[in-house]
Amino acid sequence: MGFTLRYEELIGGSTAGAERTQFALVCVVCGRSPGRLLANRCGDCGGAIDAIHPLENVSLAGGENPLQRYFDLLPVRERGNLLWLGDGDTPCFRAEGFGRRTGIPGLVLKDESANPTRSTKDRIASVGLSRFAELGVKRFVMASTGNSSTAYARGVQSVTGFEMALFCGVRFRHRLNYPDHSAVTTYLVEGDFVAAGQAARRFAERTGALSEGGFFNLARREGLKLAYLEAFDWMADPPDYVFQAVSSGMGLLGAYKGALEYLRLGRLARMPRFVAVQQASCAPMAHAYREGAEVIAPRHVVHDPRGLAEAILRGNPGQTYPYIRYLCRTSGGRILSVGDDEIRGARALLADTEGVAVCHASATALAGAVRMRREGDLPEDAAVLVNLTGGDRTGWPVPTRCHVVDAEFPTGSVEWSGPPAPPAGAAPAGGAGGQEGRDTCVL
Ligand SMILES: Cc1ncc(COP(=O)(O)O)c(C=O)c1O
Ligand SMILES: [Zn+2]
Repeated sequence: MGFTLRYEELIGGSTAGAERTQFALVCVVCGRSPGRLLANRCGDCGGAIDAIHPLENVSLAGGENPLQRYFDLLPVRERGNLLWLGDGDTPCFRAEGFGRRTGIPGLVLKDESANPTRSTKDRIASVGLSRFAELGVKRFVMASTGNSSTAYARGVQSVTGFEMALFCGVRFRHRLNYPDHSAVTTYLVEGDFVAAGQAARRFAERTGALSEGGFFNLARREGLKLAYLEAFDWMADPPDYVFQAVSSGMGLLGAYKGALEYLRLGRLARMPRFVAVQQASCAPMAHAYREGAEVIAPRHVVHDPRGLAEAILRGNPGQTYPYIRYLCRTSGGRILSVGDDEIRGARALLADTEGVAVCHASATALAGAVRMRREGDLPEDAAVLVNLTGGDRTGWPVPTRCHVVDAEFPTGSVEWSGPPAPPAGAAPAGGAGGQEGRDTCVL
């Protein structure tokens, strides 16, 4: 029958265990429990591990921050371990002006660009670091196209006890927006996002540090879920459609899980249709989906992708596509792509009609809704929720003390060494430094 996710049977089902008071870790593909608390993937089938919460005694009342409020649906056992970084409770509003102009009167927007580093990824850092604190993880390695890295780096810089090594394609350096700091080591990889991810994995293996896990880190998806729970709580009527721009799809998978939890809790009357949107210049998922392909094949992969929406420039989502295909198909949604003109148009119209400035990834999701409406695939009376996942960080600092490494790094043994020291007589962090050689550069 192909790839199937077992969330429906797991959430609120018998596996949840009537007397259990804490969440269980379960593979959402085969249903087995992982042996290790920090396993991101199932040792048997490679499926994603997720937290299955007992829903009998969930209380979502009050709380001074979203992590406290939604605590019973988070993968953290002790409230005392929560490390809230100020994210969440972002604006949710009816976009009447935009809706009028595009024929979507039931449009609701969730503005995640109001988070501390201007993207929904701050929620990842809050829940991710809370879980790491609880499990005693102090060092970790990760890769991203900028938003998750910036969110985590800010988190690690604002609480004590963590060190992170961060890998990013050299072309994406401008999207890393944090100051130099001893707790964050930045590696600029001469390659694209995929190469940065591979270098991060090798580095983690050789230094023995934990790989943060990206899409497969359940804490990420649980954090991203909160944007949707907040929106569902705000909306008088449940959304018929949910739109999000996708790169790996972890945000949408979190949204799907959250909606199922809310359905079981009676807080959502029905499941929305989930629509994943990509930009035409980098749309491996939309391409595969259109063909009815169950997996990403070499012909779908985009090498060294370019495009307006830099946050979602992932050319090979082979590991995660089956999850997104499953949830889009079974919910009655789809995966589609939109062109540059549509993205630019949606972004400009949003600024004009609602006074909200978002990044091109957010505008991609919005353009997806406009496209479906125009083509008659979105009914006029539909309640539509679009997650505006981020904004631009124009003028924010970039790290200047970075290791520049080639795509094969590390080839031999390597140690966790921290950021390069500033050269003697160099300008203070943030100022213009000089070149220091190939591997260790002060940029
Ligand atoms: C602004 C923004 N939107 C959307 C996404 C999509 O992320 P994913 O599909 O991995 O949840 C990202 C990821 O980097 C992002 O930064
Ligand atoms: Zn499994």
